[in-house]
Amino acid sequence: MTDETRGKGGEPRQQTTDRDRTMTTAQGGPISDDQNSLTAGPRGPVLMEDHVFREKMFHFDHERIPERVVHARGYGVHGHFELKEAIPELSAADIFQRVGEKTPTFTRFSTVAGNKGSFDLARDVRGFATKFYTKEGNWDLVGNNIPVFFIQDAMKFPDLVHSVKAAPDRGFPQAQSAHDNFWDFISLSPEAIHMTLWQMSDRAIPRSFRFMEGFGVHTFRLVNAEGKSHYVKFHWKPKQGLQSVVWNEALKINGADPDFHRRDMWDAIDAGDFPQWDLGIQVFDDEFADNFEFDILDATKLIPEEQVPVRIIGTLTLDANVDNFFAETEQVAFCTQNIVRGIDHTNDPLLQGRNFSYLDTQLKRLGGPNFTHIPINAPKCPFHNFQQDGHMAMHNPKGRVNYEPNSWGEDGNPRENPEIGFKSYPEEVSGTKQRVRSETFADHYSQARQFYISQTKIEQQHIAAGYTFELSKCQEEPIRLRVLSHLMNVHDDLAKQVAEGLGVTQMPEPATPAREPITDLPPSDALSILKN
Ligand code: HEM
Repeated sequence: MTDETRGKGGEPRQQTTDRDRTMTTAQGGPISDDQNSLTAGPRGPVLMEDHVFREKMFHFDHERIPERVVHARGYGVHGHFELKEAIPELSAADIFQRVGEKTPTFTRFSTVAGNKGSFDLARDVRGFATKFYTKEGNWDLVGNNIPVFFIQDAMKFPDLVHSVKAAPDRGFPQAQSAHDNFWDFISLSPEAIHMTLWQMSDRAIPRSFRFMEGFGVHTFRLVNAEGKSHYVKFHWKPKQGLQSVVWNEALKINGADPDFHRRDMWDAIDAGDFPQWDLGIQVFDDEFADNFEFDILDATKLIPEEQVPVRIIGTLTLDANVDNFFAETEQVAFCTQNIVRGIDHTNDPLLQGRNFSYLDTQLKRLGGPNFTHIPINAPKCPFHNFQQDGHMAMHNPKGRVNYEPNSWGEDGNPRENPEIGFKSYPEEVSGTKQRVRSETFADHYSQARQFYISQTKIEQQHIAAGYTFELSKCQEEPIRLRVLSHLMNVHDDLAKQVAEGLGVTQMPEPATPAREPITDLPPSDALSILKN
């Protein structure tokens, strides 16, 4: 029973005689008084021996863990993936074998650049990361709501992120406003221009997480049971449709409710209005890859859906809010390296760098090598290995054996399994060790132009307004002109509108392209929100 009584100072006290509801220390010891520290006399010093106070304060002092170095602000939701079309001819992945089977999932949506306390409606890329707890291990599809990326090689990721986050001297700005460092970096990295068109478009201010697409971005491989490989791009198509807000709305919403997107997701799920996305695959072979205008290993390029249609194979339904934001949303650890038999990586240099980065950062963020012991990260299928000890180890190998090979027979479990074990696709590789970007990555403007001409008039105006607003925050004229010199290679109309908006009267020379752009790529309807 809980009684409300009054303490000596008249403050309300909530006490109980019920053993099951008794407040305890972390060691399980019942607490009689959680309001007052132990002192020598009513006005005397607090005693060192007050173990109740010291334990309470010690734990509070250590509540914060490092926020994610990017994608710090996010929102996670449970759900399931239901297979609609089996694809054994393409992939041996267990999750793709049985129509109607449901696989549990956890999805975290995020902004990229802002810190954990920033606002939801920033003009920014959105993360769309899903962990599939498959029967053969966890598969993480760690994607974004934009199908291309700023850079081609992971070597440049720290520079990209430093340029967009707070400058080291002043500690600002945040993601909301453009600034010198970001545009300086972009103007000197022409491969980023395509992505900035998406970023200045309505795609970067989605109405909510429920109304945006998701993309795996990189080219991956699907590998079937016979070892045959196809290339694949993964897509999420929202059943709710694709919607964005306009910039003025975004600014007002940020002011009125910085939690707008997370609240929208919570409310929808709480009300039983479960959002759904179809999982689509664009599958192609070596012949297509060899003849495509761009390199399929270049993450700044997409494959137009008119060229390789998206085939829908299943549906993701998000149907449960988290019980505990910290335990689930904050502690979930996605990693591109988490793949399963039947899905494999390609030589995309951005993807290969990501495979290192996530595991590395999580070692620090989650305090040691045992973060797969946290329930949200643990597989939901049986798992056995000889990993042991380390900070916060919750389970260790059982019995005397913690190595292999061993001769302990049944007692020496676990054992390798060549039948269902993961095998990398045996791609032939050879080459000279060198630091060089492939020439096939050199066309930076053609797809940017294709994106621009695929937009409706009003969407094009929004893109021009986006660049104008963001570049107007950039103090340095040479940087603004350098960005304009790239936009001139994308589309004259766009460059002119932005120049006019910025009050530039003397246009710069167009940037010298590393490779002549293809100017006759046809528009693609899939690239426009309003045509979708
Ligand atoms: C989060 C690195 C490119 C999507 C992160 C984190 C790091 C990182 C260190 C924080 C992870 C954590 O603390 O748990 C990189 C590197 C990249 C790169 C080095 C390029 C070389 C990309 C790309 C995408 C992407 C191209 C989309 C396709 C995400 C998402 C998250 C994330 C969605 C948030 C995951 C979550 O919700 O916990 N990235 N990233 N990243 N990244 Fe990347």
